[in-house]
Amino acid sequence: MLSEIKDIAAKIAPRLIEIRRHIHAHPELSGEEYQTAAYIAGVLSSCGLSVKEAVGKTGVVGELSGTGSDERILAIRTDMDALPIQERTKLDFASCKPGIMHACGHDVHSTVGLGTAMVLSQLSEPLPGKTRFLFQPAEEIAMGATWMVQDGAMRDVSAIFGVHVFPSIPARSVGIRYGTLTAAADELEIVIQGESGHGARPHQAIDAIWIASQVITTLQQSIGRTQNPLRPLVLTIGEINGGRAPNVIADRVRMAGTVRSLHPETHADLPQWIENIVANICQTYGAKYEVKYRRGVPSVNNNLGLTQILEEASREAWGSEKIEIISEPSLGAEDFSVYLEKAPGCMFRLGVGHADRVNRPLHHPQFEIDEAAIITGVVTLANASYKYWQQSIL
Ligand code: NI
Repeated sequence: MLSEIKDIAAKIAPRLIEIRRHIHAHPELSGEEYQTAAYIAGVLSSCGLSVKEAVGKTGVVGELSGTGSDERILAIRTDMDALPIQERTKLDFASCKPGIMHACGHDVHSTVGLGTAMVLSQLSEPLPGKTRFLFQPAEEIAMGATWMVQDGAMRDVSAIFGVHVFPSIPARSVGIRYGTLTAAADELEIVIQGESGHGARPHQAIDAIWIASQVITTLQQSIGRTQNPLRPLVLTIGEINGGRAPNVIADRVRMAGTVRSLHPETHADLPQWIENIVANICQTYGAKYEVKYRRGVPSVNNNLGLTQILEEASREAWGSEKIEIISEPSLGAEDFSVYLEKAPGCMFRLGVGHADRVNRPLHHPQFEIDEAAIITGVVTLANASYKYWQQSIL
């Protein structure tokens, strides 16, 4: 089957490059992927898939029917949105929209999703069950997966695969991670309310700036003394505002930050842990406080059996030297985790690095990919899907 998959992929390669360049040249921001969605829906229909548009606002779902001998549904998720970045590559197909760029490779993801649909729909022997392709909007604002799930995109799905490009892995290689791939990312806002006064007479005031400094210091130090060191936790206060004049004690400080963790128990305890620290310090010095803790996306935990399938599929297609087993998780976040609350899944990293030049990181205005990666992505996902149907693990 692998040789048939590779043959079809080689045949459609020029078309996939065309598709990728079209999507790249016409980027759309999160939640506004109208033209991208319509374009993707058109390609899916032309491959004979049944297509639903406006799933999860601007998302698209394409379903490839199987013979019906297997009741499971396999989902393959790719995302479609671009970023508010002015492209500074010199590509002929660079963004034609000022200030918007596919700088996170979602143009590649969508193309890989379409390519996989094309390959699987052209196999001489149809697959036993249904394959559902999810083209998700708004990944960059971590909303799209939730919208898709709310609209039933994961209904009856038994397993899901996802992919993200990775510039530090060379093109034609893939990265496989067992277990935790990305972090849970939450948002934190703390307001300290003290009492204003003369800068020369601190004993008659409640200094919100000084109390805020105690809160930040204690939060950072407490990570080292109260949190399990084997369970990573990063807390960054990225915004702080307060005070009006050099000789006036500030009565109010607002801080906002991001909290990243990898372990579900650490994640569960975070709001209470933070609130206790803030409350104790504020009580000691007579300040009032407010803590707002907003849960973001959970952490991506790759399912063992599905990771094995992806590893096996890539090893068979590309040989062991092209497989990188990733040893460390990332503290980045990815809303693929929202699907994993509905079904087990696995996300892999697709190498897109050029062998012969500097590779800019994701979200860089000069981010570029080696287009050879598209076929690597398509064959890997098509072969993994084929292998999924061969096994009855999930
Ligand atoms: Ni991305």
